[in-house]
Amino acid sequence: MGSEAHIVLGIETSCDETAVALVTSDRDILAERIASQEEEHAPYGGVVPEIAARAHAERLAPMLEGVMEDAGLALADVDAIAATAGPGLIGGVMVGLVSGKALAMAANKPLLAINHLEGHALSPRLADEALEFPYLLLLVSGGHCQILAVEGVGQYRRLATTIDDALGEAFDKTAKILGLGYPGGPAVEKLARKGDPKAVPLPRPLKGSKEPHFSFAGLKSAVLRAHESGEHTDADIAASFQQAAVDCLIDRLSMALNEAGPFPALVVAGGVAANQSVRGALDALAAQHSMRFVAPPLKLCTDNAAMIAWAGCERLAIEPDLAGDPLDIKARPRWPLDPEAEKVRGAGVKA
Ligand code: KG4
Ligand code: ZN
Repeated sequence: MGSEAHIVLGIETSCDETAVALVTSDRDILAERIASQEEEHAPYGGVVPEIAARAHAERLAPMLEGVMEDAGLALADVDAIAATAGPGLIGGVMVGLVSGKALAMAANKPLLAINHLEGHALSPRLADEALEFPYLLLLVSGGHCQILAVEGVGQYRRLATTIDDALGEAFDKTAKILGLGYPGGPAVEKLARKGDPKAVPLPRPLKGSKEPHFSFAGLKSAVLRAHESGEHTDADIAASFQQAAVDCLIDRLSMALNEAGPFPALVVAGGVAANQSVRGALDALAAQHSMRFVAPPLKLCTDNAAMIAWAGCERLAIEPDLAGDPLDIKARPRWPLDPEAEKVRGAGVKA
């Protein structure tokens, strides 16, 4: 680690992963711990906010101690604490943020309020030192589906978002329809490998539309109808759903590239970025446009605290003088990355 390097302690509790990590501005992940709540939420087929908040509260303190121990560091060795302050399930966000405040006050360290989406947006730079701004980012998670021009730290231009469901949500709902359990994305991907992606005719919502956005609600309903018809195998439905989703991503990204391009790199982040079909199709699209394709390793795609600590490192690099009272920071259930972005039609828009 270089002498100028900072060490940031990251805390992530915005959804159903409790995560803590220590990361340096030299891109070293010194220690990290992550506890998934899959078992707690699985009986309900989705994340139950009350259960999530309680699980974060029970697990966070021992995990914080554990990470410091793993790295052989004391709080005094840390330069700043970075906690997710939104968007997300407010109870969980508050558990992480309040813990961050307590640590910052006790150790007299600055507290950085990190936007969870900024964590995802900058995570590819933690994994890839050569990735410079600007880049075109596809952010696909359980709560969001956006195309962003990432022009610098804190400089995000939203080019597209979903007018209804996020892509991860569509994967999770498809999994529920097919009885695959929660979380659905990896299970749908696994089953899709055994199916024919052309077997079931499914719509590609908004494909070719001048509107830049995504829509997945109609696709989900079509999956339900295909399942109820009894005419198709579950594997064929999973494969055809995944293919339809990928086609929508490529269509919308091609449009964004035509409108806002060129960009030196195409980058994918968020939980759905773990999907190999999605990665393969994006890689091919990037090659067509002579762009580099960057996808972080799988463990940095799904929710984690290393990306939050890294976003803290990136913030420290542009604002080394962090004044301000940690107690003034508020948890934000909604927190768009691009506050200037136009509001889009649709009820399910999360940010
Ligand atoms: O980024 P993330 O961990 O949490 C949010 O911020 O939402 O994303 C979780 C989402 C879930 O909807 C999950 O089903 C989806 O990412 N996901 C996948 C895969 N792995 C996770 N979707 C498709 N294929 C995967 N392999
Ligand atoms: Zn996330």
